[in-house]
Amino acid sequence: MSGSPKITTIAVLTSGGDCPGLNAVIRGVVRKAERQYGWRIFGVHEGFKGLLDDSMEELTVEGCRGILPRGGTIIGTSRHTPFMHEGGMEKVQETMERRGLDALVVIGGEGSLSCAHEMHLCGIPLVGVPKTIDNDVGLTERTFGFDTAVQIATDAIDRLHTTAESHNRVMVVEVMGRNVGHIATWAGLAGGATLTLVPEEPFNIADVCEALTRRHARGKFASIVVVAEGARPAEGTLEIPEPPVDQYGHKRLGGICNVVAAEIEARTGFETRVTVLGHVQRGGTPTSFDRALSSWYGVEAAEALADGDFGSMIAFQCGSMVRVSLADAIAQIKYTSPELRAVARSFFA
Ligand code: F6P
Repeated sequence: MSGSPKITTIAVLTSGGDCPGLNAVIRGVVRKAERQYGWRIFGVHEGFKGLLDDSMEELTVEGCRGILPRGGTIIGTSRHTPFMHEGGMEKVQETMERRGLDALVVIGGEGSLSCAHEMHLCGIPLVGVPKTIDNDVGLTERTFGFDTAVQIATDAIDRLHTTAESHNRVMVVEVMGRNVGHIATWAGLAGGATLTLVPEEPFNIADVCEALTRRHARGKFASIVVVAEGARPAEGTLEIPEPPVDQYGHKRLGGICNVVAAEIEARTGFETRVTVLGHVQRGGTPTSFDRALSSWYGVEAAEALADGDFGSMIAFQCGSMVRVSLADAIAQIKYTSPELRAVARSFFA
């Protein structure tokens, strides 16, 4: 806590991949900042890029009407950071001075929050809000957007059951989540998956095929295998192509389900089909839980700024919102717990 600062103007930005609930967070920040504190609020365009280019718009309670259920982000997002650009931090500082910005709310996932932490170390007063459908940010039990992604994946799995049963097929469905299996595990449990493969536990394709064969021998002729995009085979068990790297140096995951499905069909003889849910999981309106959670995050972020609690991140813990240090939150990504995976396993095959 660094004491209550004199704030008159703030800015909010959304950075990284979009996520259902971003607009609800923005609305929460604006509501609290304008109505309770009387601050002026700017919405920075396209994440940190807008701070480099001085591109932003004024946000008001009136102007934010109707955005609560809307997917995406009304101010745009990007994966740019000031540290990717020569003199980037100087540009950010110039923009903040020119606009009279006293503090920022940075809404982002692990990468963007790491950038926010660096910026805070460079003297920028800011507070972070954890965003991602992957739910992998440390020290918070729930990032907003996750619930929506799980719901979309569960709906898809429900639909795959009926077509799988009609054709006696194995359906392999790939979900997002980067290097963690939160979406896969929760959607697999909720959708009654036959098996769920997650990055936390490298899989052996021989075991997968054996489990499916055993199940089908019991008279079940349809199966759903949920595969997290970051799932990987145990070393030496199966060759998979290296994922390409995007312009920001991130691995572009996606496609593992094709390898898994081909192996299942070849080894078991069961007709197998693939569904990649992809960005559908990030699009559209947030669930009611995510709308409420996001609104709560937004209000708490404005409060943290008012208290001068810079360098902190809002975190959801044990049913409450708390403040943790950004440094601690980004120290480690959050994996699925062994307990949850054990529960999921008790429904396998
Ligand atoms: O982090 C969110 C996420 O949707 C991941 O689950 C996925 O791997 C990645 O973003 C996809 O990123 P992009 O939008 O760049 O394809």
